[in-house]
Amino acid sequence: MAVSETAKRVRADRQWWKEAVVYQIYPKSFFDSDGDGIGDLAGITEQVDYLDALGVDAVWLCPVYDSPQADNGYDISDYRSIFDTYGDLADWERLLSELHDRDIRLVMDLVVNHTSSEHEWFQRSRRGEGEYADYYHWRDGRPAAEADYDTDDGPADEVAPNNWESIFGGPAWSYVPEREQWYLHLFDENQPDLNWRNLTVRRAMKDVVSWWLDRGIDGFRMDAVSHMSKTDGLPDGDPDGTPTGIEHFSHGPRLEEYLTELSADVLSNHDITTVAEMGHTSIEQAASYLEDDAVGLDMIFQFSHMGVDGGWDPETVGEWDLTEFKRIMSERQDALADRGWDALFLGNHDQPRIVSRFGDEAAHRESASLIATFLLTMRGTPYIYQGEEIGMTNADFESLDEIDDPQTVGRVEQYIADGVADSYEELREVVNAQSRDHARTPMQWSDEAGTGFTDGEPWLKCNADYTEINVAAQRDDPASVLNQYRTLIDLRQSTDALVYGDYELLTPEDDQLYAYTRTLDDEQVLVVLNWSSESATFEGSEIDTGDATVLYGNHDDAPTDPTGASLRPWEAVVYRL
Ligand code: GLC
Repeated sequence: MAVSETAKRVRADRQWWKEAVVYQIYPKSFFDSDGDGIGDLAGITEQVDYLDALGVDAVWLCPVYDSPQADNGYDISDYRSIFDTYGDLADWERLLSELHDRDIRLVMDLVVNHTSSEHEWFQRSRRGEGEYADYYHWRDGRPAAEADYDTDDGPADEVAPNNWESIFGGPAWSYVPEREQWYLHLFDENQPDLNWRNLTVRRAMKDVVSWWLDRGIDGFRMDAVSHMSKTDGLPDGDPDGTPTGIEHFSHGPRLEEYLTELSADVLSNHDITTVAEMGHTSIEQAASYLEDDAVGLDMIFQFSHMGVDGGWDPETVGEWDLTEFKRIMSERQDALADRGWDALFLGNHDQPRIVSRFGDEAAHRESASLIATFLLTMRGTPYIYQGEEIGMTNADFESLDEIDDPQTVGRVEQYIADGVADSYEELREVVNAQSRDHARTPMQWSDEAGTGFTDGEPWLKCNADYTEINVAAQRDDPASVLNQYRTLIDLRQSTDALVYGDYELLTPEDDQLYAYTRTLDDEQVLVVLNWSSESATFEGSEIDTGDATVLYGNHDDAPTDPTGASLRPWEAVVYRL
């Protein structure tokens, strides 16, 4: 088989972060070492052997910085210290060294679009103090008589400076009487957006970034990057935009310049990786950032596949179509084949649980391991979100009081205000399908009270299924979801074609099977997934599978020749051809 141009190029461009399997930790819910019901750094350190046994190469740690926790740490009040409930810098140093001792790298979260409203910068800014006055986006209100939108906040005869809506629901502006002005917050009102046009802000942020890099970390996951630049003059948005104003606060005119500056001045001087979260971003946009080395992004979390089930639309909740999913995934694989490297994920701390969303809770073990097979055999770097490796599922939130997440609360309140629903009960189904809190229920370590996560009272409701689905129950069972993840991680790490191979989709119109090849030089792997609750037959394609050998199967006795074979519901098989 001829060596493809792509193969030649990737061979020349091997990188640790392309070969890595990353595990994402949400510290509040991972492991509580001191019984206060909240996870902490010492708790993560206690579990590094668990991560090592799972076989992951890197950890992405969600924010652990000092924070009033309006958005669980994505509201930072001091970039250079640790939230004291999680521990202190010495605990963090210990975690880093325990991870490094096991050759596990550490990627930290970097939240630069906004700070907490309790950050000293904002406190000074709201008082209009010196250079801080212009650290955030402050504007005078608009006379209410001239506006065609309404904001409850502020003086009676004024509304917000423009009609933008927050990504969490409600207006994107809040009024501060002290300054008699409004400030912009694209997320929660406790998360004011930094003014990146201000050179002093950019310098301050670069200092923060250097400060962490000097501590020996291995990379950054960069939060909400697509929103850093806004259209000059902050004009009104199209009232039909979701949220209104998105065309002015996503991929603003100077985004590339800010990223390039950050890379040139700090990031590129270190052997680290960068993965940027970019909501509201097309595959083409993502590819164009990735292919431009100056921008300095190794990977992008792009969300096109997360829209496949209609998200928060109560009308279509939970519905999705495999052919559409295959089309989207293949479009991103093809777009990035020569232009960049994907960040592969199906779940994270902002998304529902993957087995509930893309699998079948009734075929728990089989569907969870099929999804794992997919995640670990596509081209890109796989990100496993905590609990996925045991197949954690969505919880049932019976009332809004059980929800902590400001996005869920904001959306429910907005739906009720907009008349989409009259009560929480009418929205319970969509919340139970989509809330970010499904990902945040405590990690299920055992069937003990508090899920083995804590000896105390957990900060968020535990998922009732923890007595069945937990690490202790799966650890020694070779067939368990946990051990399927271990096997698949190992397979990926030992199979070059699964990392660097070209991707090719087979049978695109099949609405039960997702089948594809990964090819690197003369090494070819075929993945056949029966992504359905019924048996399915792989009719094959022009590929000769006569000499195939099974590398992995999530059922006993996988068919040795897949062509013409009947696959059981949720059967996943990986072949070497
Ligand atoms: C990102 C984070 C999310 C957070 C938001 C605001 O989307 O992943 O958890 O709420 O940014 O920081």
